[in-house]
Amino acid sequence: MTSDRARLCLPSARSDVPPFMVMDVMSAAARLEQAGRHVVHMEVGQPEAPAPSTALAAARAALSGSGAALGYTESLGIPSLRVRIARHYVETYGEAVDPASVLVTTGSSAAFVLAFLALLEPGDRVALSVPAYPPYRHILTALGCVPVLIRTGPEARYAMTTEALLAAHREAPLKAVLIASPANPTGTMMTSDALARLVATAEDAGIAVISDEIYHGLDYAFPATTALTTSRKTVVINSFSKYFCMTGWRVGWIVAPDALVRPMERLHQNLAISVPTLSQVAAEAAFDGRAEMEAVKAGYARNREILTTGLPACGLDRFLPVDGAFYLYADVSAFTPDSHAFARALLEEAGVAATPGLDFDPAEGHRWVRFSYARSQADMIEAVARIGRWLKGAG
Ligand SMILES: Cc1ncc(COP(=O)(O)O)c(C=O)c1O
Repeated sequence: MTSDRARLCLPSARSDVPPFMVMDVMSAAARLEQAGRHVVHMEVGQPEAPAPSTALAAARAALSGSGAALGYTESLGIPSLRVRIARHYVETYGEAVDPASVLVTTGSSAAFVLAFLALLEPGDRVALSVPAYPPYRHILTALGCVPVLIRTGPEARYAMTTEALLAAHREAPLKAVLIASPANPTGTMMTSDALARLVATAEDAGIAVISDEIYHGLDYAFPATTALTTSRKTVVINSFSKYFCMTGWRVGWIVAPDALVRPMERLHQNLAISVPTLSQVAAEAAFDGRAEMEAVKAGYARNREILTTGLPACGLDRFLPVDGAFYLYADVSAFTPDSHAFARALLEEAGVAATPGLDFDPAEGHRWVRFSYARSQADMIEAVARIGRWLKGAG
């Protein structure tokens, strides 16, 4: 009897996913701030700027209306938002997208769950490049699927190659591959040729492609291309969180191949009903705030410049190509064999919060630290000065 009751709240094996270490860094930084220290935040992958004023105005107007607009919406999303998202593909990439293939989701995070549930069976193998955004592998594991980590290297600008993908497929068949360009944590991008080759090769081999395009719009080296340009069988995921500075509004979207739209809709009806209505209203208006967002992006470009010139002068001169998103992924192995201890000391002694690479790469992450440059120019200048002084003292 007692042992039966003791089993009542036993967590499932599938819930045993690792924590997201960046959250631990955020908590440690918050403790220092509560104790009166000033911390420069480079740990969080989130813009400091607010949502576009057009989005805020639309939300205010919706709140001051009758309130009728804030009931559930269709599971697929507010029709006019889906039309607006489809138009974004013509405007940005010259690609016609049918609004019927657009599903609005609670951030891209929920889009992954929908895409994985719609495409995969338990036990299916999914290729991911490593280092990668940790929730990819943690969501897959929680759903009983098998993440297959494919290491990337300098020869292909830290992107997955077709050879590596096919080699993993030969070991045991892959059901899908997840790609991201620009990528988190590396900030690297695939050239449009490399992306097209990977998508075409995967699909020819019967491997479904899921393309996480959340950092599109934030490219500095060359423009990002959507996987839709190569194939309409690709599941494309995007979000208002990054380019549009709307992390907490929790709105993302999927452009799905025809055969997957209805299954995803049914799943969404059951899992969430719909995305918060106020956020959808704001998201639609965000597209009218692009000029503001381009100014925010210009700020990231300046921050990127400050880091790519300032960090080498501090001795931190080995980092991956800083192509897009707002991340710089630095090799700290000349200073430490343990990036976790390095990040802890950097925070405690220099007041700069950064994320150890172990979050993104369990095998090699002890050599790497991710710096996010999504905050102000003054913060970046201060960070470089602090890191320089600290490394001199530490070195
Ligand atoms: C690569 C990548 N994909 C997806 C997400 C999830 O973002 P959201 O759920 O806010 O759209 C993030 C968040 O940092 C990310 O870095």
